[in-house]
Amino acid sequence: MDVFERVTELIEEIGAAGATTPEEVEAFRIRYLGSKNILKPLMGEMRNIPNERKRDFGQLVNRAKQAAQDKYDALESALTQQEASQAGAELDLTAPGEPMPLGSRHPIALTMRRIVSIFERIGFAVAEGPEVEDDWHNFSAMNTPEDHPARDMQDTFYTAENMPAGPNNSAMLLRTHTSSVQARTMETQRPPIRIIAPGRVYRNETISARSHAQFHQVEGLYIAEKVSFADMKATLLHFAREMYGEETRIRLRPSYFPFTEPSAEMDIWWGLETEHDHRITKGTGWLEILGCGMVDPAVLQNCNIDPERYTGYAFGMGIERQAMLLYNITDIRLMFENDVRFLRQFASVL
Ligand code: DAH
Repeated sequence: MDVFERVTELIEEIGAAGATTPEEVEAFRIRYLGSKNILKPLMGEMRNIPNERKRDFGQLVNRAKQAAQDKYDALESALTQQEASQAGAELDLTAPGEPMPLGSRHPIALTMRRIVSIFERIGFAVAEGPEVEDDWHNFSAMNTPEDHPARDMQDTFYTAENMPAGPNNSAMLLRTHTSSVQARTMETQRPPIRIIAPGRVYRNETISARSHAQFHQVEGLYIAEKVSFADMKATLLHFAREMYGEETRIRLRPSYFPFTEPSAEMDIWWGLETEHDHRITKGTGWLEILGCGMVDPAVLQNCNIDPERYTGYAFGMGIERQAMLLYNITDIRLMFENDVRFLRQFASVL
């Protein structure tokens, strides 16, 4: 067979070729376009062709090469299309979308935000202070000098360097209450002062289902001219009703704190209907929510506020306890374990 016929035959062969799988398309490429393709040896025949026919032969071989390239491109794109439509067949475009996974707010954050926003709506501004605090702001300024027996009420973590020296005004410690923010605010602001201070506090306590060595408090402070105990009572009643419902009743019991005089503890009426109510209220129906009182004149004096001219009230409340009441959480330790099975349950709460 003459080489002209051989090439013409190959062009027909290429035209008729089909390939539907990736393997077949690849075999086609190797046969006609690969480095050892079937057209190469035919090009070698050139030197045996008489001069006047060399040009025709060259053109014929080029047609064969072009045909191979065109065919290969066509087979390739048919294959890609086929793959795409197969993938499409598995996609149900009418299926509902996959939900985006949403995080959740921590119950402590939820409770804290709720408390803070109740007070913000009646004009209290958020104030902050450091968690690693000095002895002055945590204790002495708050009318709890060194050797004051009330220091025993709050077991303190001192930072290591200050341990041997024992408490003095500059000893550093982890704040035991957010009342330290009262002293910090009074140093830098003049009355009228109306602040709310949420934050984390620490006490050297045995960890159990009911108490933890770290927890959160919200502190409140209002100082102006002629602030009275009745003002405090009305504000706290408003808070209790916003937090626990319009019908909520409160009672104030006399108490003692070094930084207030007189001092009180506020209970809310929880009820005594279920056994659970009996247990958490110790059979009284009342639940203690916060400590409060009229700011002791000595505290005002420590912070350079004239106690002859100004009076004020202050209060402090724990957050975990209230979060446990709101969300029926029975063990405080759950709050600090970051177990997603616990946290996820708050995903729908804003
Ligand atoms: N600091 C107190 C505590 O941690 C709570 C407290 C009581 C804060 C009375 C106050 C207050 O501001 O007036 O137990």
